[in-house]
Amino acid sequence: MFGSRDVIGLDIGTSSIKLVRLKKGKKGFELLNCGIMPLPPETIVEGTIEKPEVVTNVIKNLLKIEKIKVCDVVTAVSGQSVVIKKINVPKMTEDELAESIRVEAEQYIPFDIDDVNLDFQIIKETTSEKKEEGEEVTKTANMDVLLVAVRRDLIAERNKPVIDAGLKPLIVDLDVFAMENEYEHNYGFPQSEVLALVNMGATFTNVNILVDGVTEFTRDISSSGNRITHELQKNFNMDYDAAEKLKMGVGLNGVSEKDVANTIVSVLGEISHEINKMFHDFIKSTEKNINRVILSGGCARISGIEKILTENFDIPTEKINPFEKIKVNPKIFDPEYIQEMAPVFAIGVGLAIRRLGDKVKP
Ligand SMILES: Nc1ncnc2c1ncn2[C@@H]1O[C@H](COP(=O)(O)OP(=O)(O)OP(=O)(O)O)[C@@H](O)[C@H]1O
Ligand SMILES: [Mg+2]
Repeated sequence: MFGSRDVIGLDIGTSSIKLVRLKKGKKGFELLNCGIMPLPPETIVEGTIEKPEVVTNVIKNLLKIEKIKVCDVVTAVSGQSVVIKKINVPKMTEDELAESIRVEAEQYIPFDIDDVNLDFQIIKETTSEKKEEGEEVTKTANMDVLLVAVRRDLIAERNKPVIDAGLKPLIVDLDVFAMENEYEHNYGFPQSEVLALVNMGATFTNVNILVDGVTEFTRDISSSGNRITHELQKNFNMDYDAAEKLKMGVGLNGVSEKDVANTIVSVLGEISHEINKMFHDFIKSTEKNINRVILSGGCARISGIEKILTENFDIPTEKINPFEKIKVNPKIFDPEYIQEMAPVFAIGVGLAIRRLGDKVKP
């Protein structure tokens, strides 16, 4: 139906908008466009678009630079207005579940059920046993279902600047699912392994723990790169822009590199502590260990971060390469730039891979 139209993945983050366009050929995907443009501070605050007109203009500029005209767009949301929960319900068909999901979901959603878009994915069948005194054991067939609820106003808010930029929103996905999509495309279905996909952006750290390739636990925490920037601002008495530069190792202006590194390591310790609490909750409730942490997002570019997090989590931590299985023509894209920026484009790639007809999310 949409075959003739192009699809772009648009990752609208707090600090910047990332655009990825892929071409699907016989031998897999090839990168056509990959662009990034910063957003001024206060445009998006805690995941809420405060200045939609600024977002619209930045999208328009990105399209102009990338020479893209009409296309459909896949975006994503994350944060407090998103609920992803594994629930257990009596065994039924997918159609039956589609009919009853609103009733099932009501008890798990902290918002009015009429204000959310609901979706679900059946994960696996389970059985539970019950024994009343003096009676035989009765077995009940159940199933684990991944329930996804996103507030409608958040979807509308994400779509507005996209529409105003002259584009057509096709799917609003979730950051954590985009991470999963991108990982599976590049590295295959992680079987017999527990992986924690961690995307550290400016405002959010999105965590998706996959057991045998299926989401078992996911959460977004409001603590990420901006926290480092704010700490640098405070410690070295400077404005946001100067602190951002300092974080990237430029514009030291007399500040010692070692002091900057110490601040970064110390804030990463605090963020890791929050992530570790989540990991411990997971390990306690599932009695499974996490084998590897896969890192994406802008913070993955912090020098030495893999080593720091490997120590903080006591779990091997490595950086993602979202272009691992995507053809990138070195005549069009500078390989050094692509390698350096790769983790930043992870969610954009995950969104660009999505097409109608996949498991459609809200
Ligand atoms: N070279 C670098 N060194 C250190 N930090 C970096 C570097 N490049 C980017 N960052 C940091 O990464 C963060 C931006 O990452 P990203 O683009 O993934 O976030 P976002 O998608 O805009 O935000 P969010 O998803 O939280 O809304 C910023 O805090 C930025 O300072
Ligand atoms: Mg982001």
